[in-house]
Amino acid sequence: MSVCDPSALARSLLAWYDRAGRALPWRKKGNERPDPYHVWLSEVMLQQTTVAAVTPYFLRFIERWPTIAQLATAPTDDVMHAWAGLGYYARARNLHACAKMVAQWRGGQFPDDEEALRKLPGVGDYTAAAITAIAFGKRAVVVDGNVERVMARLFAVTEPLPAAKGRLKALAAHLTPDMRPGDYAQAVMDLGATICSPRNPACGICPWMNECQGRRQGIEAQLPAKLAKPERPTRHGIAYWTARKDGAVLIRRRPPQGLLGGMMEIPSTPWRDDTPWDMAELAAHQPVAAQWRPLPGLVRHTFTHFHLELRLVAGKASANATPLGLWVALDKLSDHALPSVMVKVVKHALAKAY
Ligand code: ADE
Repeated sequence: MSVCDPSALARSLLAWYDRAGRALPWRKKGNERPDPYHVWLSEVMLQQTTVAAVTPYFLRFIERWPTIAQLATAPTDDVMHAWAGLGYYARARNLHACAKMVAQWRGGQFPDDEEALRKLPGVGDYTAAAITAIAFGKRAVVVDGNVERVMARLFAVTEPLPAAKGRLKALAAHLTPDMRPGDYAQAVMDLGATICSPRNPACGICPWMNECQGRRQGIEAQLPAKLAKPERPTRHGIAYWTARKDGAVLIRRRPPQGLLGGMMEIPSTPWRDDTPWDMAELAAHQPVAAQWRPLPGLVRHTFTHFHLELRLVAGKASANATPLGLWVALDKLSDHALPSVMVKVVKHALAKAY
């Protein structure tokens, strides 16, 4: 079999998938079709996120909101709270907007073609193709980071990403069969996630071992080539752990757009590049006038485009303080949509401020 025989490649991959594909809660094997709601939900969750991280969130969502109509009528805050910890929070806002649109305007039914799917909030090229293939069994070219890596290796594409994207998509299209398009799409992604992994690919058990040009040339582990990314800068902020006499602490909602948009936070200074904040600057951003006491240590968190270092200060708010925000009892903090970085801040404050 040559690398140019797409149908033979598809057949060997599908045989491998039938044997070794992962059993995942949103998947159906054999002739059964998965619920489009489950496919859409899982694919949105899986953007930039691993199967291991997504699985418990997916199960909680479908237990709490078994249909898209139920998700559509949930308060946005409940959806953001259920999403807390999964990251990339614009996905949760778009997810809810999309659920409302599909429930209200389409009777709860997803469209079954890519063009119509791409018009829905949060549904881009990848997700539209994945839903078309997996939920509706129609041929669509599904390309995510896993597929790009598999194609780059199989065809020994040495051009670096992102310039190589178009070429890798054309190669993926060349291989995508008319038969079992949903299984095929998931099979390539599973191959990329489990065998053709970024580091130490397990070529010895790969169904495409003999056809892989990258392996033949001994360059598989270096592919796909990537242009060096600029280093992540480090930003600095100070978070104000503000306690009231009764022990309640102050949280507030972030603006709806932008990083962690709509999620709850411990109030902080802006996060600025390079220069850590000086204690003398504290008053300018304090959520309420108080005496601030620095807490030892710092909280570190890495976002896609920067590292964050947050120092904490603790202060007592006077009884008549009227800050913009919400006073929450310590044992009720977990009822709110705190992103992972803020969970770290809370843990640090609980360890150091009492
Ligand atoms: N990554 C994103 N979507 C996936 C899927 N449906 N199967 C395997 N890996 C995936």
